[in-house]
Amino acid sequence: MAESTIESILEEKRLFNPSQEFAQQAHIKSKQEYQQLYEQAKTNPEQFWADLAEKELDWFQKWDQTLDWQPPFAKWFVGGKLNISYNCLDRHLQTWRKNKAALIWEGEPGDTRTYTYAQLHREVCLMANVLKQLGVQKGDRVAIYLPMIPEAAIAMLACARIGAPHSVVFGGFSAEALKTRLVDAEAKLVITADGGFRKDKVVSLKPEVDKALANNGAPSVENVLVVQRTEEKVQMEPGRDHWWHDLKAGVSAHCPPESMDSEDLLFILYTSGTTGKPKGVVHTTGGYNLYTHTTLKWAFDLKETDVYWCTADVGWITGHSYIVYGPLSNGATTVMYEGAPRPSNPGCLWDIVEKYGVTIFYTAPTAIRALIKMGEHHPNARDLSSLRILGTVGEPINPEAWMWYHRIIGQEKCPIVDTWWQTETGGFMITPLPGAIPTKPGSAALPFPGILADVVDLDGNPVKPNEGGYLVVKYPWPGMMRTVYGDPDRFRRTYWEHIAPKDGQYFYFAGDGARKDDDGYFWIMGRVDDVINVSGHRLGTMEVESALVSHPAVAEAAVVGRKDEMKGEEVFAFVTLEGDYQGSDDLKQELKQHVANEIGAIARPGDIRFTDALPKTRSGKIMRRLLRNLASGEEVAGDTSTLEDRSVLDKLRGG
Ligand code: PRX
Repeated sequence: MAESTIESILEEKRLFNPSQEFAQQAHIKSKQEYQQLYEQAKTNPEQFWADLAEKELDWFQKWDQTLDWQPPFAKWFVGGKLNISYNCLDRHLQTWRKNKAALIWEGEPGDTRTYTYAQLHREVCLMANVLKQLGVQKGDRVAIYLPMIPEAAIAMLACARIGAPHSVVFGGFSAEALKTRLVDAEAKLVITADGGFRKDKVVSLKPEVDKALANNGAPSVENVLVVQRTEEKVQMEPGRDHWWHDLKAGVSAHCPPESMDSEDLLFILYTSGTTGKPKGVVHTTGGYNLYTHTTLKWAFDLKETDVYWCTADVGWITGHSYIVYGPLSNGATTVMYEGAPRPSNPGCLWDIVEKYGVTIFYTAPTAIRALIKMGEHHPNARDLSSLRILGTVGEPINPEAWMWYHRIIGQEKCPIVDTWWQTETGGFMITPLPGAIPTKPGSAALPFPGILADVVDLDGNPVKPNEGGYLVVKYPWPGMMRTVYGDPDRFRRTYWEHIAPKDGQYFYFAGDGARKDDDGYFWIMGRVDDVINVSGHRLGTMEVESALVSHPAVAEAAVVGRKDEMKGEEVFAFVTLEGDYQGSDDLKQELKQHVANEIGAIARPGDIRFTDALPKTRSGKIMRRLLRNLASGEEVAGDTSTLEDRSVLDKLRGG
């Protein structure tokens, strides 16, 4: 399964053509049409995006300049004014969509809520007015730390409506991780809940917020708005903490959208990098709105009658772009689920597909592998005939999982769109267009029109077909991140200097290796930096190492990724201990729990190995490559001549 190497994937020769019936009804109907669009966008990207911006979005004021490109800083639709919450809500109220289901939500215990566009608009206006009442003004940052409940989408849209950039923090992150993000963003207010339901457990959130704010941990935070979900008892600090249902009752449901500059900050979303603390990825209003809108419409062939469901969490970029903003901007019906498949209910996803007649289903390879393991009798026992398109994201999908998805879920009739993109890119970058581009299991296929993606060597020269290289983008696009919050220099260093600009050509590089095959299809090979992809979520090795060394027993730690059949990769840690500490199973457990407390359960190491010393170069750099080999039980490959002390390696091999 997950052990398929890129070589074996490259031998994958199967090709799946969209059916004629599908192609005929699609927005983009043929390879020729795609190629025409691609060429058109390549020849004049500004015109291409400007035409779409005019056609697809509502603007309060038109822009003066489509693109201002001062590498590596781009501004799109300069001078244009709009509000993304207006595009996601208000404009639909003037049409029959007013009473169309905007958001269908299912809680894990089985409770449900459906909001029409009119109802969602009302809730968003109420929350926007509550935020204003609590002193939030245009430009103030608001953190959102919620389970997968409708209020998560409502909160995001309410922030956007009043021009307060949001920073959503995944509900699975710990108090410590939340605190770091609150401090970096200087958040003025936190929107949270008592907790949520996940895999038959109550996940408490408010106590984590209390911990993050204790001892003036995040001094910028003035107020906490708490949604009642689980009805567990929580501490409410007078003057600071407020129940959403109390304040909601006292405000007006009328809240005009702020007129936002196209380049005004829409949100900050933190993601792991190779060094230091997580980076605050900055997205702005106009370009992001257009990009998520258009990519969803074309790559998922979104139609008025679709029931679209993305199983991601709103705490990740997938949830931002493709549960909330992309679908609602298009006036679609978006489904949101609080829970996850679990032993007591392994077929829950398929129940939801059947119950709501889901037509488009978007999930991650790690979820597909877990579903395979649960057995095909679960999907087989449900009516999945409503499905017409399937999507995947987060990590390379192994062809076996692709084929299962195709056969069992897609009933061999649904095109699979394997979407390659990142927090930084805002939306899909490389993806099949389902009516136009034949798919190959394991390949994300071809770049979206307007995306000049390529595979190059370190000098920026394109590599030959079927040779590995760095996946880069050679021209700005509207959905691209604008900067690292508060650290433009880090933005430049991280993304634009790995491959040096030459002759005025800049290369965006965010860490993935890839190959192109003879047909120009992209095959993503995974990260080439020190980022581990656990269940489709990015973790920086440095973050986990810092968490480990913050434990008194740990002197030094080195963390690498190890292949895992379910999760894609898991965290494997090598640890040296302080003075008198002895490595034991109990200590292993304690350290694993410590990492989970410091970052969140996704970072919990799968395994820890105690060692006397770590293999380092003479200049003191840990040789992770060797550790990766050791973790996966492989022979240590490549050059080891720079090792300072070879006996370290011999000992590690023995252990
Ligand atoms: O390594 C790539 C992998 O996920 C990384 C981006 O992670 P994140 O910013 O958390 O966003 C995940 C959801 C967009 C990429 O650098 N990745 C994402 N999608 C794919 C993928 N790898 C292979 N195939 C994909 N479809």
